[in-house]
Amino acid sequence: MFWPKAYTWTRLTLVLVTLSAFQLTNASDSHAYDGQVILADSTPAETETATTTISSDLNNNEEQFDTLITYWPVESQAIYEQAFGPDSEWMFRDSDLRTHGLNAIRAVQFESASYDEEGAQETPQVQWMTEGEKLKLKAEGTSLLDVTENFLHPSSSLFPHTPSNTPTALTYPSTPRSRPLVLSIFPHISSAEQKSFMTTFTDPSLFYTRYYNSEWGRNSSIWLSKRIAGYVEELGGYAGEGKMKIEVVRWGHRWLQDSVVVRLTPFNASSTDPITVIGAHCDSINREDPFFAAPGADDDGSGTVTILESLRALLSAKYVPKSPLEFHFYAAEEGGLLGSLAIVAEYVKQGKVIKGMQQFDGVGWLNPTVPPRIGVILDHVDTALTDFQCMLIDEYLDIPYIKNHYPGRASSDHESWSRAGYKACHVMESAFKDVNQNMHTPNDTIYLRDYSFEHLERFTKLAIAFAVEMTS
Ligand SMILES: *[C@@H]1O[C@H](CO)[C@@H](O)[C@H](O)[C@H]1NC(C)=O
Ligand SMILES: *[C@@H]1O[C@H](CO)[C@@H](O)[C@H](O)[C@H]1NC(C)=O
Ligand SMILES: *[C@@H]1O[C@H](CO)[C@@H](O)[C@H](O)[C@H]1NC(C)=O
Repeated sequence: MFWPKAYTWTRLTLVLVTLSAFQLTNASDSHAYDGQVILADSTPAETETATTTISSDLNNNEEQFDTLITYWPVESQAIYEQAFGPDSEWMFRDSDLRTHGLNAIRAVQFESASYDEEGAQETPQVQWMTEGEKLKLKAEGTSLLDVTENFLHPSSSLFPHTPSNTPTALTYPSTPRSRPLVLSIFPHISSAEQKSFMTTFTDPSLFYTRYYNSEWGRNSSIWLSKRIAGYVEELGGYAGEGKMKIEVVRWGHRWLQDSVVVRLTPFNASSTDPITVIGAHCDSINREDPFFAAPGADDDGSGTVTILESLRALLSAKYVPKSPLEFHFYAAEEGGLLGSLAIVAEYVKQGKVIKGMQQFDGVGWLNPTVPPRIGVILDHVDTALTDFQCMLIDEYLDIPYIKNHYPGRASSDHESWSRAGYKACHVMESAFKDVNQNMHTPNDTIYLRDYSFEHLERFTKLAIAFAVEMTS
């Protein structure tokens, strides 16, 4: 993807930790040391400026949230260019969330892309509006994608979709291949560790909300990245013996919160080896006002701690994958899949091949009125990978699954991958109609009677099974 020069710095990834038998070569601002944790502080000065501006936004956010600027419905790039001229610099300036907060101009898409008879994707209909207006629509229950960056760069291959990056020949086994290994890793899961993480991650005195364009949101993902760095420092030493490279990358965006990407790369992997990705989103939101309390214990603290603990258990068991394995903690899912769209666009640009992507979103609350079941989502997923996921549930978990659809346009970060033609699957805590109704409110806490670390542990096992069956 092309980025105007002024924004190039936002594409820098900050390598926090590298346990490696060899030097990193692809990131100029990174360092590699054997068995040593690096907390690289290469944050560009511009970020500080932007942060200061947003802080002043924070002080009168309610006023801002109600005073929204003009709304521009624009149906195509052509009309957009007619309105604003072909020079996208203007757009970049005014769409920057860090400097314009709730007044930033965003490109929002409400419907799934349609396909013409030849299977080519038609230009998705896009409407331009402010960030605040977008969030108000979301509060009213409208599901949406924020495609601002992707829409401005149609050549990014996300829009339109280019199936050429996707290995269509990928198949998944119909029976487990590594059952003893998977079962040997389960005892490394610590429910106490998950509780301790969640107590801090949802503590209102530290992270009042994890809204992606707030300092709390930014601080929460920095804290998350340090927690992961701590695990790698404590448990990852075995990787340094020439087995694999472990990277914890804080992935900067054009808003305040970072995504965090953790990569376990076996020493003999090549850059074209298919990557297995396990994801969740680390932001939260209060649907009434993005600057009100949003502990997000279920949505999606639960997915975050699920994939985090599966990573910790794999490290604790000294697991070395045979193909690259990544854990993605996406920023700004609640803003319309922003973090995952940005990362997917970069992976498409780099021609990365994905073996399969599994998304965990809302997996920590157990509805007492229905029998416990794993909700397998059928929207924006790959059928074969979903069948593989169902096989893993049958094989490794103590409760059945129920396949079901999201209502309307609701989705999660797996859709960003499906959009780009990659294969993805997705699970939730139950059938969609039975999920926690406290999501997006201050009541989405771990202190709800039916918040269940026992249920959460099932998903942690599923993430481990997915990781090992895909990469061993
Ligand atoms: C974010 O963290 C910094 C550094 O610890 C702290 O000074 C700041 O007050 C925090 N911001 C918020 C909104 O909590
Ligand atoms: C890397 O090494 C492992 C273990 O020796 C082997 O199973 C795997 O096929 C190798 N991968 C590649 C890409 O050579
Ligand atoms: C939070 O829970 C309390 C107690 O059950 C309830 O009165 C309140 O309406 C809930 N708040 C929201 C925003 O759902």
